[in-house]
Amino acid sequence: IKLKDVRLMQNTYAADEFTNITDKITSLIGKNLHLQLHHPLNNVRQRIVEYFYKSFLNTRGNPTFSIYDNLNPIVNITQNFDSLLIPKDHVSRKKSDCYYVNKDYLLRAHMTAHQTELIASGLNDFLMVGDVYRRDEIDSTHYPVFHQVDAVRLKTRDQLFREGQDLSIFESGKNSVGINQEKQPCHSLEAVKLMEHELKSTLVGLAKSLFGEKTEYRWVDAYFPFTQPSWELEIWHNGDWMELLGCGIMRQGILKNSGINDRIGWAFGLGLERVAMCIHKIPDIRLFWSSDSGFLNQFKSKDNKNVIYKPISQFPQCKNDISFWIGDPDNFSSNDFYDLVRNVGGDLVEQVTLVDNFKHPKTGKTSHCYRIIYRHMEKTLTQSEVNVLHKEIEDTAKNSLNVTIR
Ligand code: PHE
Repeated sequence: IKLKDVRLMQNTYAADEFTNITDKITSLIGKNLHLQLHHPLNNVRQRIVEYFYKSFLNTRGNPTFSIYDNLNPIVNITQNFDSLLIPKDHVSRKKSDCYYVNKDYLLRAHMTAHQTELIASGLNDFLMVGDVYRRDEIDSTHYPVFHQVDAVRLKTRDQLFREGQDLSIFESGKNSVGINQEKQPCHSLEAVKLMEHELKSTLVGLAKSLFGEKTEYRWVDAYFPFTQPSWELEIWHNGDWMELLGCGIMRQGILKNSGINDRIGWAFGLGLERVAMCIHKIPDIRLFWSSDSGFLNQFKSKDNKNVIYKPISQFPQCKNDISFWIGDPDNFSSNDFYDLVRNVGGDLVEQVTLVDNFKHPKTGKTSHCYRIIYRHMEKTLTQSEVNVLHKEIEDTAKNSLNVTIR
């Protein structure tokens, strides 16, 4: 079979065996919710940008951070992975986790994909804001497109240490072997500690400016291929710890590959949806994509940071199960089915859960049963409307996933 070319943002890409983006996903590219007037994601973006503008001023009183919020979401493998020193066999590269345009291009899975190109262009302090794409489960807090703010700050020795201090950013780390949780072998402990202090106090300040002065928080050690050491910031929300962001001291190899040899950097990445859902008590992530004025108008006021979302109304759910035998379990991922459901059912699908995973003792065949919950955001769905959709999902699964409906 000849694969169809993929047309995206005025460009044509040759499809290959990596291509897995669906029409549903394609239709969401370029919506730029983070730039849409009064949209809650836009409001959160603005608050974060203002926090950085006022927190980092140069000697003339001007903001040092610059903002990039209109970068093309179609990136190549180098941008999304290689330039960030992500190992060739790292799980985050898997076809089952990313939307590939073809083997060379994908929809960016994080805003960090643009880090090196902006550093190489000469920037030291900058924010990147935009839509990112990940294949994932379906529920009220997951959507295949969400929005992130990423930041980078680079500092020279003179910016880091006081005049007259005989300290340096780098040391020869040749006798350090293996992973060091405290720092990278090439960095001096003094430099790393000062950077860690600025990074953490900046981010705690950001969390408090978003969620209130009294916000409780904690730091958790983490791992990212592009930072070392790395941390996650969690805040106490609704009786539980919620992960707000990931951050760390940038791997020096990333700076080196962008031509920077005299600076050390910190970086972080944060999801906008989670923040907006907390601030406004928005119960379902699909609402961000609603074009209903009943949703958007609620965030128009000057004082929008204190708005608590009022449900337009709660319409009833419809539950339908689907069970099938899997033809080739080694080449089946639940994410394939989730994408199919999204592609056919669109935003009428609220949740899909794997409720049964069964291996027949005699035949060795594997069967999955998924529960699909349908709910319209703005009206009541009838059972017969749902039946039509459910049948279409069954037929599409049968034809494209090599499964047999039970
Ligand atoms: N890219 C990471 C993510 O999407 C977040 C991150 C950015 C972590 C920069 C560290 C530094 O989860």
